[in-house]
Amino acid sequence: MSKKAAAKKPAAKKKPAVASKNKSLLVENRVFKPNPEFVKQARIKSMAQYKTMWEESVKHPDKFFGREAKELLWQKPFGKVHEWKCPNSKWFVGGKLNVSENCLDRHIHGARKTKAAIIWEGEPGEKRVLTYQQLHREVCRFANVLKRNGTKKGDRVIIYMPMIPEAAVAMLACTRIGAIHSVIFGGFSAESIKDRVNDCQAEIIITADGGYRRGAIVGLKKNVDDALKGKDTSVKKVIVFKRTGQDIHIEEGRDVWWHRELEYVDAKCPAAQLDSETPLFILYTSGSTGKPKGILHTTGGYLLHSYMTCKYVFDLRDDDVYWCTADVGWVTGHSYMVYGPLAMGATSLMYEGAPNWPENDRFWRIIDDYKVSVFYTAPTAIRAFMKWGDHWLKKHDLSSLRLLGTVGEPINPEAWMWYHNLVGGGKCPIVDTWWQTETGGHMITPIPGATPTKPGTATLPFFGVDVGIVDDLGHEVPANEQGKLVIKKPWPSMLRGIWGDKKRYQETYWSDFKGWYFAGDGARRDKDGYIWIIGRIDDVLNVAGHRLGTAEVESALVSHPAVAESAVVGRPDELKGQGVVCFVTVKEGIKADRSLADELKAHVRKVIGPVATPDEIRFAAALPKTRSGKIMRRLLKQIASGETLKGDTTTLEDINVIAALSAASGED
Ligand code: WTA
Repeated sequence: MSKKAAAKKPAAKKKPAVASKNKSLLVENRVFKPNPEFVKQARIKSMAQYKTMWEESVKHPDKFFGREAKELLWQKPFGKVHEWKCPNSKWFVGGKLNVSENCLDRHIHGARKTKAAIIWEGEPGEKRVLTYQQLHREVCRFANVLKRNGTKKGDRVIIYMPMIPEAAVAMLACTRIGAIHSVIFGGFSAESIKDRVNDCQAEIIITADGGYRRGAIVGLKKNVDDALKGKDTSVKKVIVFKRTGQDIHIEEGRDVWWHRELEYVDAKCPAAQLDSETPLFILYTSGSTGKPKGILHTTGGYLLHSYMTCKYVFDLRDDDVYWCTADVGWVTGHSYMVYGPLAMGATSLMYEGAPNWPENDRFWRIIDDYKVSVFYTAPTAIRAFMKWGDHWLKKHDLSSLRLLGTVGEPINPEAWMWYHNLVGGGKCPIVDTWWQTETGGHMITPIPGATPTKPGTATLPFFGVDVGIVDDLGHEVPANEQGKLVIKKPWPSMLRGIWGDKKRYQETYWSDFKGWYFAGDGARRDKDGYIWIIGRIDDVLNVAGHRLGTAEVESALVSHPAVAESAVVGRPDELKGQGVVCFVTVKEGIKADRSLADELKAHVRKVIGPVATPDEIRFAAALPKTRSGKIMRRLLKQIASGETLKGDTTTLEDINVIAALSAASGED
């Protein structure tokens, strides 16, 4: 996009074009029935039971969810279960509850008092266990630290932490007093922090001096310092946890140490009584414009859905050791490392670092050491493990595993089979869970004791989820044809808005089909009704399971003085699902060479963060445009993937541009 367009790119018109399939797909037609051993103890034991429950959940949602919600701890019972005036949804109207109380207090009066809530391992190898009682105490103390530093109900608190128990403590402490947290993944840059702070006008940041990743220290506090340079920030306090102990800058009057602050507080902190619709957190995610969206979730509905899915999809048991490998900076870390499992009173394992540190078997070692029984990870990680070789996992005893899960991107049948045979020993059901930051929790997923699975499909909708796969006019497409994935009914954990931008909320999710939520994904249903997710059909990439807006990367590129114009597209990548390819035209007189390509890659890392690092920069004399000036991404995608060009090029302004781009061999 041009510099002018970068500032305010209108939401790109979504095209029904669907990402091309990964070439390495292996077709696997076998159907895997739930293992009878698993079924014996499962909560839902048959398809008939699933179907009856699903029918009730969509036909009588008030009855179904009203009953389920009674399993949570309410300070004041709710009246009406649900109110809906598109696009505004309210759940458990009039009810009052507190998330931290549900996750902690209600477990500490019985047998779970001394049960491990969080088992943690640091990348260098330290080990810690926090029982429910201990976690409760830490959360209460830290909630008092927040209060002492001026945080009140409704204030926004940024959390930019390594994967240490204190990240969960900070989140739960916010929920205890009704502050709204916004966790930022440690792979985002100072500039990304600054944008998010400004957008939600946060008054406080909780961070650490650093964290460990692949043997190196990530300088988290340094990034926070850079983000807060200048006078116009809303941030008044920064609370710093000492993790690595390296020297850091402490700004007098603004920065305080976590451990010092604890000296001033006690461990009594009543859980605030919060209305069911009280904002719980904001989580920024990429959309099809240059500006990330602050997805807003609220209290009662979100908690119920994360709790219910842990109960029915992970089928968590009191003796499980459950491990979700997602970072707390992504929604998966929110719903399935912290809130869902703790609301269930489960034991949640947390690991700080990289899967290949110090060697490629770190994950298998952890599963063996702690006897992990439920394991939830991303297809991109599974493909990396496959590449590293089977011998790494054969060194370890993985027989404690009883259930496996995946999330984040479609899983290719080859990776599914490897996961099933080598990790699960052929006996563990696999739940391939489709959902999004916006949906708060699982939406399409097998129920492990009931649903026969087929490698590569997320199978059937979860309770209360009414899925449509439709054409542009909203008509259901026939079996095996691709369409847009929509959700036809509101559900408890749906996003309640985009922070500070009602219009964008309406336009992004509710304007393609009146009254239905459009998810941004393409899908097809097979003859058995199973849903196969094809991938994003908007200008959002899915790189190693992380969402990345092409417009965000384009904005970053054009902010570099050498760049005149850029267009970013994805291309299939065996390991990461998609790779980031940037077509760049440079300004007059600038030499487009390898050193500039490296500089541009580094520039994108600096502006957005390492998560957005381009795989390839391709210089071009011009970008293919329609006569009305719109970049023809469809063609660029084909060029980036080395495909032969298909489709209509008659609207192209200058056909020679394509010839030149196709001839270009990349960076050199
Ligand atoms: C993709 C992550 C196929 C999808 C929880 C969605 C998936 C986006 C799956 C959301 C899956 C997630 N199969 N695709 N099981 N799970 N996706 O917001 O394109 O980071 O729209 O949420 O990831 O990514 P997000």
